[in-house]
Amino acid sequence: MTGPEPIPVVLGVGGGIAAYKAAELARALVKDNCRVQTVMTAAAREFITPLTLAALTSNKVITDLFSDRGADEILASAVEHIQVARTHRMLIVAPATADLLAKFAHGLAGDFLSTLYLAFEGEVVLCPAMNSAMWAHPATIENLAKLAARPRHHIIPPDSGDLACGTTGPGRLPEPAAIAAKVHRILHQRHDLDGETILITAGPTREPLDPVRFISNRSSGKMGYAIAEAAAERGARVILVSGPVHIPVPEGVELVETETAARMHDAVMERVGQASIIIKAAAVADYYVAAVPNQKVKKTAMRLSLELDPTPDILAEIGRVKTDQILIGFAAETQNMVDEARRKLKTKNCDMVVANLVNQDGTGFESDDNEVALVPAEGDVVRLDRAPKRLLADQILDRVLGLRLQRHARGR
Ligand code: C5P
Repeated sequence: MTGPEPIPVVLGVGGGIAAYKAAELARALVKDNCRVQTVMTAAAREFITPLTLAALTSNKVITDLFSDRGADEILASAVEHIQVARTHRMLIVAPATADLLAKFAHGLAGDFLSTLYLAFEGEVVLCPAMNSAMWAHPATIENLAKLAARPRHHIIPPDSGDLACGTTGPGRLPEPAAIAAKVHRILHQRHDLDGETILITAGPTREPLDPVRFISNRSSGKMGYAIAEAAAERGARVILVSGPVHIPVPEGVELVETETAARMHDAVMERVGQASIIIKAAAVADYYVAAVPNQKVKKTAMRLSLELDPTPDILAEIGRVKTDQILIGFAAETQNMVDEARRKLKTKNCDMVVANLVNQDGTGFESDDNEVALVPAEGDVVRLDRAPKRLLADQILDRVLGLRLQRHARGR
């Protein structure tokens, strides 16, 4: 039995100490059914030999060396970059040095890799790696911003840690397995959310008690951010209205930062008209202090009472004003999660509620995993087993698309 056709990709290797990791990346790509064409810059060959990569990929390595070629070969190589550009789906550059980023950003085409970049129309994955000062230099920042804004470009930012130059900070090439996993996702990504605008809320809110204190909750924002990442990868325009969290913004997502329930309410209501799908994963505070003192409240021996007012229920308000948009709520419960989800479905006029128990070990708030029940307004409850939030995010989106199809089928 033969497997699926290998996917042709180019691995461009720049001249940095992290070039040695390109060997392991090449192996991971081959193992993941890629046919790898390696292209090495002159500087890369100072760090690692073409022979290593040729052996690992079972393929010749393209270099700029003319000296050991005959006239015919030199003539053929004059158009080789066009040929390679046409026949490969992805160009992965790891490590992408500051020099390569500058060349790509400005369209310089003085060697094979930069010429190939200009001729390439497929997906481009850039994995910058360099010294922290070079990474932080305004020139690099500007070049990266230019590159990130180009279509089909993906930047995998460097990790922080010990660097070859003896300093510590951002600049390390991420582990080859992590790069290969991201490459896999891009190569196999579905485009079933093309044309959708998805408004997602995530994270907790903070309700001030005085200038230095607030009420909040344990939401980390991980579930909402995972859905935002999945939706953007599947082609949607994603607007992410987020409370205060400590996780990076997924690539291609428009972030709107908020703090209080009232601000989140305004940010959402301003944008709701643009959205075809609204997913409210945020753990919005239910109460706030209306009269926040200007000064820090002093400690005394007396009992202190807080007067709390209810916050605006954003989900319920959208439920009242929505047109043909699909509205998904979340229910974080400590008991009777499906019954509670059903109640919220009705009271908030949602199309589906994603319910999870938040008092179990290893799932719910702050965890990387979750275990949820999808409770639609019409149709059966589906329980999704415990899994990483990023995996569940795709399953939730699959179900949202299912709701859309159900509606079309009924002509609504
Ligand atoms: O807090 P509750 O369990 O009712 O939250 C259920 C859903 O309602 C969640 O999707 C949450 O984002 C949303 N919600 C809201 N505004 C609030 C409270 C909750 O949009 N003030």
